[in-house]
Amino acid sequence: MKPTDRKSTSRQILTEEAYNGDALLSTRQRLYEDQYPAHDLPALASDAIKTACAGSARGQTIIDVGCGNGRYVERLRQDFPDATVIGADLSPAMVELVPEPSQVVDIQSLPFADNSAEALLAMHMLYHVPDIDQAIFELARVCTPEGIVIVSTMSSQDKRELTQLWSTALALYKGEPLPAAPVSQTGVSFLLEDAEAKLARQFDTVHRLDLRSEVPLREAGPILAHMASQRSFTDLDDAQFDAVLDIARMLVMGQIEERGRIVLRTHIGFVIGREPKPR
Ligand SMILES: C[S@@+](CC[C@H](N)C(=O)[O-])C[C@H]1O[C@@H](n2cnc3c(N)ncnc32)[C@H](O)[C@@H]1O
Repeated sequence: MKPTDRKSTSRQILTEEAYNGDALLSTRQRLYEDQYPAHDLPALASDAIKTACAGSARGQTIIDVGCGNGRYVERLRQDFPDATVIGADLSPAMVELVPEPSQVVDIQSLPFADNSAEALLAMHMLYHVPDIDQAIFELARVCTPEGIVIVSTMSSQDKRELTQLWSTALALYKGEPLPAAPVSQTGVSFLLEDAEAKLARQFDTVHRLDLRSEVPLREAGPILAHMASQRSFTDLDDAQFDAVLDIARMLVMGQIEERGRIVLRTHIGFVIGREPKPR
């Protein structure tokens, strides 16, 4: 299957279903409410920009590409009141949620001049992009020579308990052999393990910050809501998806009854690019 054929990179599915508003994104964000240790991702991004820009962002431009419902934009506007912080997203419904300046963009062809932003973010969004190398090229092109680009994504090991539960439910539905633990993320086109090498093609300095945590869950609701939020990205039709979700519900409730809780182990990270290669 070519990357452009994947549902997770389909412009129509992204803008009309998955991110036609922030209901599904907020559902996934809520899963982390009891995360330990808690990682304040917007604060970490803000600190990285402060360090890169030597504490001053006066008159600077910061662009959050794939800004979603604007949690990074909100924080950066607080922390850099003299900077112009632009929220940019493929989905018009998301852009509407973010106060101006905010605009519809496709990261593969950014409507910003060369060397025009001191900081650019692309957080948990590159796995939705058909041409990831082109997207990273665009981030580097718009970044000033002294600027910083921060991307975030998940590791192949992120929330593998959840992946295991869904894979088991799917195998039971299809009557196939059950997956052997541990199950890694599958079908994700931009994983933390690949991100440094991809950024290194466009930046002379690249470093990675790994963020791990645990999320103990005593209720099935948030886990099932998270699974349900991925409906648009699977190859199942609605009836099949509902059937697999019903099996997953039984598995999740069974584990919670037996063990008192399910602990999800998260593993995501930031990859930071500095010194964009001359072009
Ligand atoms: C998982 S959300 C992440 C939102 C936000 N960055 C965060 O971390 O909370 C992915 C976002 O990327 C946007 N997106 C997907 N493809 C894009 C593209 N080609 N250009 C710009 N934004 C895109 C989606 O519309 C969605 O809002």
